[in-house]
Amino acid sequence: MSVEWPLPENDPWSTPFAQALLQKLELFPGATVLDIAAGGGIPSFHLAEKVGSGGRVLAIDANQYQVSRARSVQGMHLPWLEFEVGDMRRLPSELPQFDRITGNLAFMFFRPDRPEALKNLLQFLKPGGQIVLTFPSLGTFDSLWTKVDLEMRQRGFEKERSALEEYINERPSAGHAENWLRELGMERTEAIELPLEIKTGAGRAFLEHPLLRGGFLEDVYECFTDKNLAEQFMTEISQDIESFTPLHAIRCAMSGWKPAEG
Ligand SMILES: C[S@@+](CC[C@H](N)C(=O)[O-])C[C@H]1O[C@@H](n2cnc3c(N)ncnc32)[C@H](O)[C@@H]1O
Repeated sequence: MSVEWPLPENDPWSTPFAQALLQKLELFPGATVLDIAAGGGIPSFHLAEKVGSGGRVLAIDANQYQVSRARSVQGMHLPWLEFEVGDMRRLPSELPQFDRITGNLAFMFFRPDRPEALKNLLQFLKPGGQIVLTFPSLGTFDSLWTKVDLEMRQRGFEKERSALEEYINERPSAGHAENWLRELGMERTEAIELPLEIKTGAGRAFLEHPLLRGGFLEDVYECFTDKNLAEQFMTEISQDIESFTPLHAIRCAMSGWKPAEG
């Protein structure tokens, strides 16, 4: 059977994470799926095609713009797929339970209380159902953080350095993720990790890199109260990419099964 809604080939970030998610997800025709942090629909469209018209995919995202964008791509296709606005950390209690819960690049947004957000979400998983979430796990871009830390230390930026340390230590590891699933009663828990190299040039190519600037570099800028100083510091870092490339992200896919009833 030909695939009309494959994962986009030209997406260097969401698609490799979604591939890790699909590697763990066990799907069947007719399944109902809750896809959280669905954004523009990776992997909601692909999942909807896989479950077929006998199934259902509810794709939710907190951002109205993302939901509208996904709906316009969908048009009249795959009518058993719905995009809705919602906060995955506190979904309405009247929502039914689903056979599968998926979330690509979702788990990092479970802040501030990740176990609590996970617990709330698991209410919407049917007994015997599977949850698979992906996120960039502890270790992602460590060569960059080491470089930034070293440069901060050499310049005596101690306040910024401790803010960076706090950010780095707050990131969940694959081990944390699997433990939280286990502690919440999930069975056959797993958290696999797959490396992903991110290519970048120096200077503006680095500072404006669509993957880095959107989230990760923003987190370094946030460590500074003086925004001009942040800009100057990061511009200097961007001239010396040889000292922290190749840059590696770690794709973590965490999976668990809710015990069947009876
Ligand atoms: C990195 S994008 C991933 C989107 C999509 N799954 C993909 O792989 O391309 C993360 C998405 O999470 C959404 N998001 C962040 N916090 C959220 C929350 N509390 N509830 C629902 N969606 C959220 C953002 O709006 C964004 O679209």
